[in-house]
Amino acid sequence: MTFSTVSQTTDGTLHINAAQLVDALPALDYQDGILHIDGVNAHALKEQYGTPLYVYSKNTLLANYTAYVESFSALNDVHICYAVKANSNLAVLSTLAKAGAGFDIVSIGELSRVLKAGGQADSIVYSGVGKTKSDIAQALQAGIGCFNVEAMSELDTINEVAQSMGVKAPIALRINPDVDAKTHPYISTGMKDNKFGISHDIAISAYEYAKTLPHLDIIGIDCHIGSQLTEVKPFVDALDKMIELIDELANRGIKLKHLDFGGGLGVRYIDESPVSVHEFAEALLPKLLSLQAKYNLGLHLEPGRNIAANAGVLLTSTIALKPTDHKNFAIVDASMSELIRPALYESVMAIINTALDDNKQAQTWDIVGAVCESSDFLGKDRHLALEVGDLLAVTGAGAYGFTMSSNYNSRPRPAEVMVDNGTHRIVRERETLEDLWRGESI
Ligand code: LLP
Repeated sequence: MTFSTVSQTTDGTLHINAAQLVDALPALDYQDGILHIDGVNAHALKEQYGTPLYVYSKNTLLANYTAYVESFSALNDVHICYAVKANSNLAVLSTLAKAGAGFDIVSIGELSRVLKAGGQADSIVYSGVGKTKSDIAQALQAGIGCFNVEAMSELDTINEVAQSMGVKAPIALRINPDVDAKTHPYISTGMKDNKFGISHDIAISAYEYAKTLPHLDIIGIDCHIGSQLTEVKPFVDALDKMIELIDELANRGIKLKHLDFGGGLGVRYIDESPVSVHEFAEALLPKLLSLQAKYNLGLHLEPGRNIAANAGVLLTSTIALKPTDHKNFAIVDASMSELIRPALYESVMAIINTALDDNKQAQTWDIVGAVCESSDFLGKDRHLALEVGDLLAVTGAGAYGFTMSSNYNSRPRPAEVMVDNGTHRIVRERETLEDLWRGESI
């Protein structure tokens, strides 16, 4: 990508050169001016499945997963545990399970999805700040690989449940290392102000306490400092803090089997330049290799966005155009109900025409949905040539897109399609009106 892919004029209008943007996204290309996703024409997908429509590229999912496996291959014992919250469609999970991925879950719903999709229970790490007794029992019953424990009281709860079931629960303590991930405050998780993890200051005493609980099997240490990180420095700072703890625990006779270093590596939505997985690995490997040599410590990673975001697009059709003296609004058939990231985090995601047409006059548009909220926008001040009926694609929508969708304004959730080397199949039907009131009564 060159500088000119994205530019902003003095009036704040965002110009995105769609052809150049797409050049940097392996899942996408323009063929004769029409957007294709892994060789499949976006307009043919609209024709067959309707819009709004999530479309995922199987090849890109696999390539993104493989990049992790290859980048960390210098280590003997690496588990890439895909963070299910990013995109939990069964076809996505099954694709990754078949490739050998483990999974990071935060609920019993996610556990059930992974098992349904053919994932191995013992490849699952269970994070999350609020696990109930019932959650813990179900996870133990399934035989998950490790609980990432987020509070002192959770140690007691897991110990109690494991005792009642006559088993030992495998655990790691999720430590909040108090480093600034330099990302949006809503997706930063590793600072003192965040609710996540056990404070770094009391980490050693928490391990000493865990050691006294007979139904816990202490196997690891965990941290996750935030999401959409673009630099390596916060990761390196967090790793240094974890290494200090691992050394101190070893001095005290607490031997661990793995370090879980979480997820969080960012992606390029428009013009960000996040470090690549390879660069991320290069920065961490010397320290990880030394941990391996010293303690035979394995590595778990929990990437979500980095695997799924750029494997997906959201296709949406233009319903109405409303130019005003002050602003031009393009109303599309996707909204904050289908894709909430712009409304919730003011995240800027690229919106591109699926048909390139130099003859059409471009103007500045706010791309908005039909939901009754002023925060319902997909993109503001976009330089686009638009007519009613035109098909647009929001790129980078494969992660935290469908999984964060809702039925707000009683909108049935969209269909999801998986594209695989020029073929396509539906992997989630569009919801029907009946789906909207399932379980309700008059
Ligand atoms: N592990 C844990 C414990 C997490 O909490 C998360 C994300 C991940 C792994 C995966 O992080 P990733 O590799 O995807 O950055 N909805 C927000 C992102 C929330 C992330 C929450 N935790 C967004 O759309 O930007």
